[in-house]
Amino acid sequence: MSVLPFSQELRERTRTSHSESEGADFMGDLMSGKGTVSDYVALVVQHYFIYEALEAATERMKNDPVALPFISDKLTRLPAIEEDLRFLIGDEWRDQISPLGTTVAYVDRIREVAAVWAGGFVAHHYTRYLGDLSGGQVIRTLMQRQFGFETNGVGFYLFGDIAEPRRFKDTYREQLDAVPWDEDERSRVIDEVRVAYQFNTDLFLDLSRAKAASVA
Ligand code: HEM
Repeated sequence: MSVLPFSQELRERTRTSHSESEGADFMGDLMSGKGTVSDYVALVVQHYFIYEALEAATERMKNDPVALPFISDKLTRLPAIEEDLRFLIGDEWRDQISPLGTTVAYVDRIREVAAVWAGGFVAHHYTRYLGDLSGGQVIRTLMQRQFGFETNGVGFYLFGDIAEPRRFKDTYREQLDAVPWDEDERSRVIDEVRVAYQFNTDLFLDLSRAKAASVA
């Protein structure tokens, strides 16, 4: 039996996965100023498909007592992503975007797992939204600085209804600690968070490959 609160156990047992996602070349280049605005747009495009699936799963999970405490309209990102894409690509944005291979697989996983298994849903929900409220805020600041965005284009990272991200994350972690999952279920949830991180890491590899192919 683990003595750690679940939120800490989860964070510690997925630390390596987080480092791999964070350390991907595509992300590193974007953060260090070597990326282009097209790279950034390519990432926003993939977010569109991911959040479409995640937020559809959220709708379906609203009746589940385990999932419910994690669900908040304050987190909803899809309308902000749509606004960002309209700003970045133009009114015809929807006809001009398509998911990369990893995104298709990631979305399938969210549809299959997160829509029917509350623990799996929480795993995918946690990996994206707690990341967006953490490193996402660093990414936003750097993108604003590099590409001159104010709010248009980075709306995805602006949680207008969350005044204090740190407090929101603390509450989220308390909710993770409060779910009465046994040791087996905790391990399954942690494994699913690792799966989610792996999709994000693979997506960065896909984005690098797509970029290399487009300049070749
Ligand atoms: C340049 C890329 C990234 C940077 C700089 C970054 C940075 C950070 C930082 C500083 C924290 C700790 C914040 C805190 O304790 O309040 C954090 C937490 C987190 N990040 Fe990232 N991150 C990056 C990419 C990612 C990616 C790609 C994902 C997954 C989609 C992700 C998911 C998470 C999650 C889930 C947490 C919360 C961990 C926890 O406290 O339980 N991050 N990130």
